[in-house]
Amino acid sequence: MNILLTGGAGFIATHTCVELLAAGHSAVIVDNFVNSKPEALRRVEEITGKKLVCYEADVCDRAAMERIFTENRFDAVIHFAGLKAVGESVAQPLRYYRNNLDATLTLCETMAAHGVKRLVFSSSATVYGVPDEVPLREDMFCKGCTNPYGWTKYMIEKILQGVVTADPSWTVVLLRYFNPIGAHESGRIGENPNGIPNNLMPYITQVAAGKLDHLNVFGDDYDTPDGTGVRDYIHVTDLARGHVDACAYAASHTGCEIINLGTGTGYSVLDIVKAFERVNGVKIPYVIGPRRPGDIAACWADPSKARALLGWEAKKTLDDMCRDAWRWQRMNPDGYGA
Ligand code: UD1
Repeated sequence: MNILLTGGAGFIATHTCVELLAAGHSAVIVDNFVNSKPEALRRVEEITGKKLVCYEADVCDRAAMERIFTENRFDAVIHFAGLKAVGESVAQPLRYYRNNLDATLTLCETMAAHGVKRLVFSSSATVYGVPDEVPLREDMFCKGCTNPYGWTKYMIEKILQGVVTADPSWTVVLLRYFNPIGAHESGRIGENPNGIPNNLMPYITQVAAGKLDHLNVFGDDYDTPDGTGVRDYIHVTDLARGHVDACAYAASHTGCEIINLGTGTGYSVLDIVKAFERVNGVKIPYVIGPRRPGDIAACWADPSKARALLGWEAKKTLDDMCRDAWRWQRMNPDGYGA
């Protein structure tokens, strides 16, 4: 298949691109590089030995999208493009709603105009809100998000469900990601956060590298085995393979499916710290601090639908995630550079 990846230079997208090319597909990238670097795509080409077609454009730019769809014939689209920083979304809600919703609407309108009707969307477990029970299943009621970023994911799911209701010949796969960490085992591509990281693993790797003094553990009084927050961490390469399988599924089905991509196992913040220290032989000094507003105690996936529909399951271990995250950090102390 020839697949368009919007936001194709990002963390999850570059790993997906590697897996798509390895599976024999071809990929076209559109990215405005507001939150990513062209160097990431150069490294995908280096890892795979294959060429990518890349467009530097904003998915909200209707004329640019029209040109991309005129110059290429796509079998499917994977829609990664979007702003994704939770705290920033609280400070700049209009920017988040405008950008993330506008990009999706422009993309879908362009797809419809060109008869491209297969879409895989980067959604998030954040749409489940504060769960009543775990593991989380796709048929559970979503009680509402805690920030505008999460609401954009929720709203886009609703928009895409509406598209399929109106035209059942579309296929939409809404992939709800749990917590992607790790990096490609080559150490050439990985997560490249701007400034001080918000998420746990990039923060830990920067502490390990001596760039940050210590980890602040956000609360140890949750109702979890050790009191720290529990999440379903998934290796980004496993997550990436899920997209390849979702594209294959979309090629032979119609309708809309919501699918969790997680391992089904929850680990606490201190589990991650201990695993990272053991696997990599480095110390991660930490200080227990207050809870972070908006955080939940525990969340992990029921991944059985992904296994049933896509034949997918996560294969990599927490040790793989810790080892690969640290390799990426050590080999690229400044990420992709300036
Ligand atoms: C966060 C977002 C979520 C988003 C996801 C994308 C919030 C509230 N949620 O998920 O909407 O989809 O990232 O990657 O931001 N922790 C620490 N110290 C740190 C950082 C994190 O103790 O410096 C803890 C958190 O309290 C949490 C766990 O580590 O228990 C994971 O945090 P994080 O990596 O930020 O992911 P989420 O909060 O699950």
